[in-house]
Parts: sequence; structure tokens; C-alpha cells
Amino acid sequence: MDRTLLIIKPDAVKRNLTGNILKHIVDAGFKITGMKMIWPDKEMGGKFYEIHKGKDFYSWLVEFISSGPIVACCLQSPDAPKKLREVVGATDPKKTAPGTIRNLYGTSVGENVVHASAPDENPQREIDFFFSEKELFKY
Ligand code: RTP
Ligand code: MG
Repeated sequence: MDRTLLIIKPDAVKRNLTGNILKHIVDAGFKITGMKMIWPDKEMGGKFYEIHKGKDFYSWLVEFISSGPIVACCLQSPDAPKKLREVVGATDPKKTAPGTIRNLYGTSVGENVVHASAPDENPQREIDFFFSEKELFKY
């Protein structure tokens, strides 16, 4: 079984979409093995997104991710990182496939309701950012 990290971003939490998004995730076949609602400060947000340092949207992104509570989830399924990206859809909600989470709920390329680990950007590093091994349930 593989793992990946999902974050329900502040735009979705503020719009009370957490339950709808989690239902979509569970219906797609993922098991939730860890879940935390936290309000990251700018230091934490900047560190999580340091891979984007230097890009033109970096400071906006750090402000955004620290603008309210987020829900970080560790998900388990076969081929989890690749599968979650398919369920989440591409970055821009208007350009991504119908029925994906971002297409259903996202409002702009920035406020796109969820983060999903990129399969080639070390999903385990992102899981470790929020969870210790003993906090994760083993199905
Ligand atoms: P994520 O990391 O959040 O799952 O999203 P992603 O891989 O689809 O997109 P990425 O390129 O990694 O960008 C991270 C997040 O930054 C915001 N963004 N804004 N204004 C813009 O052009 C722009 N580009 C990216 C989005 O919130 C995106 O999810
Ligand atoms: Mg990304």
C-alpha cells in the first residue's frame, strides 16, 4: 500500500467543504490513516512550500495557506500519489477535468481547495511534515 498527503486548504475549510471533500476521497477508494486540523503560521506555510521559493506566486501562496485552518490527511491506497492527483485534478479548476475535486469546488488557480503531494516530489517528506509514524493508523 502506498501513501500520500492531502491538504484541504483554507478556502475550502472556510466554505465548510471539508466533509464533501472527504466523502469524495473515501468514495474514490482511499483510506484516511491520519488527519489534523491546524492553522499554520507563515513560518510553517513558508517551510512547507519552500519548493516554490522564488516563483512569482510564492508569497501569495504562503499568505493563503496561513490565512485560516487547514486539514492535513495521510491517505492510503494502491498507487496513492498518482491516484490522488487524478482525483484532485490539475491546478486550475477551470481547465481541469469535470468531476475532479478542483473542478467541482475550486474557484481560481490559487484558491483551488486542496493540495496533493506530487508523485515526483517526495510524498513521504510531506507526510513527515505533519505526522510522526506513531500517529498514523496501519490498516
Ligand atoms: P498543489 O501543490 O497545491 O497540490 O498544487 P499543484 O501541484 O497543482 O500546483 P503547484 O504548481 O505545485 O502550485 C502550488 C499551489 O500554488 C498556487 N498557485 N498559484 N497564481 C498562480 O499562477 C498559481 N500557480 C500555483 C496554487 O494554490 C497551487 O495549488
Ligand atoms: Mg504541487
